[in-house]
Amino acid sequence: MLKPNFKEAKKRTKAEIKVLRDEYIVSDEAKKLGINKKYFIKTYGCQMNEHDSEMISAILEDMNYTKTDDYEDADLIILNTCAIRENAHNKTFGFLGRIKHLRQTKPNLLVGLAGCMSQEESVVEEIINKYKWMDFVFGTHNIHKLPEILLDHINSNKLEVNVLSNEGNIIEDVPFKRDSKYKAWVNIMFGCDKFCTYCIVPYTRGKQRSRMPEDIVNEVKELINQGYKEVTLLGQNVNAYGKDFINRDYKMENLLEDVAKTGIERVRFVTSHPWDFTDNMIDVIAKYDNICNYIHLPVQSGSSKILKLMGRRYTKESYLKLYNKIREKVKNCSITTDIIVGFPGEEKEDFEETLKLAEECKFDSAFTFIYSPREGTPAAKMKDNVSLKEKENRLHSLNDIINKYAKEANDKLVGKVISVLLENVSEKDDSMLAGYTDTMKLVNVKADKKYIGKIVNVKITDAKTWSLDGEINE
Ligand code: SAH
Ligand code: SF4
Ligand code: F3S
Repeated sequence: MLKPNFKEAKKRTKAEIKVLRDEYIVSDEAKKLGINKKYFIKTYGCQMNEHDSEMISAILEDMNYTKTDDYEDADLIILNTCAIRENAHNKTFGFLGRIKHLRQTKPNLLVGLAGCMSQEESVVEEIINKYKWMDFVFGTHNIHKLPEILLDHINSNKLEVNVLSNEGNIIEDVPFKRDSKYKAWVNIMFGCDKFCTYCIVPYTRGKQRSRMPEDIVNEVKELINQGYKEVTLLGQNVNAYGKDFINRDYKMENLLEDVAKTGIERVRFVTSHPWDFTDNMIDVIAKYDNICNYIHLPVQSGSSKILKLMGRRYTKESYLKLYNKIREKVKNCSITTDIIVGFPGEEKEDFEETLKLAEECKFDSAFTFIYSPREGTPAAKMKDNVSLKEKENRLHSLNDIINKYAKEANDKLVGKVISVLLENVSEKDDSMLAGYTDTMKLVNVKADKKYIGKIVNVKITDAKTWSLDGEINE
């Protein structure tokens, strides 16, 4: 058994980051495992986890499994989990509770845990003690070893726990089975070294490691050949891209420029930490038409006192300066954010500063959260004297402001003609197609299905808080 170890996960050494290119192997024995069998993956968490699930799918298909969207029909179920807040945990354990009975009718069903929760000591202890019926647990560092892990479980017929708590390497040449034919996630870096005091990610994903620019650019070129229209460059802190290169001066602005020059129609990137956002980056975003005018710029709090306790390394003033600079230099840019309410020590006055900042920035939209203590992080030890009721009240009053400005930003677009990448049939109405503007606004468009996968001009006819309606304008 290889269990997670937080003490190891916390370490950051000067050890060289290795780029490993021949680690992914599917043995003939593993290729037989999936014949006539179906797999189901349940994914929680961020875009990185969604993309990891695309990797898990491709690996399972290399083992000859086929995909099913119905977990009751599956022979293999994998939960790719998130650890960011307590409710992410609750959802995973809730789902495990719901599927346990399937074992009675399907004794050969395999159930495994993957993702960030697998990297947590307490979660793995709970699985070992209370979920003995499960089959395997693997982590974020060894997804590519899934064929071996499954074989080991089948040979031992015991709960197989295989989680690494190292700083991590870069594993190249692992396949992906992408969910979309038009837009693709592209990893540019893994891990995080920021250690914001509330956050579990640096412990579950290892140290910051940037992929080689050539590997990223080649991946984007290959995606263009396959007909992809949009790439989203992924990392916990994309602006810090390249800061970990030892003998190379190549930063996010260089990468953005090189990816834009491939000619792909749309380039996005998430997530930007305000700390590493340089003027050069802003200039590159403004210069290239195919770099989307959309920046997710998490602020977390409007109080410099709380930002300091959070370890964010910027102040309210420096955030606002950056925010205004982006608004000024990147025309028609949409800016969204993340905000945590009820962080330990957040007094009424601190929260009011957050409200004031939201009023001032008029974000296009925001994800807002109640602080959730994560075991092992510094903030979990800080004294928290705000009641849950008060935190809920704060969340509601913040959301009122966020919603007001989201609607206002959408209202301004009514009557305008904007380009939209139409991706699929709308969830609400199957005579409509849904897609996103380059500023990341969801648009429902009355249009023939022949437009799916195309970037088209759409005239906006109506605005709601979280979406727009429109019609094709050719
Ligand atoms: N790397 C990104 C954030 C990834 S996590 C960044 O630094 O901006 C996504 C969001 O979850 C964070 O921006 C934060 O708002 C929220 N979050 C993270 N840890 C949290 C916690 N312990 N409680 C509540 N929200 C949290
Ligand atoms: Fe978490 Fe902070 Fe890293 Fe974002 S930058 S992943 S919030 S530690
Ligand atoms: Fe969750 Fe891990 Fe992403 S904790 S938000 S799945 S990096």
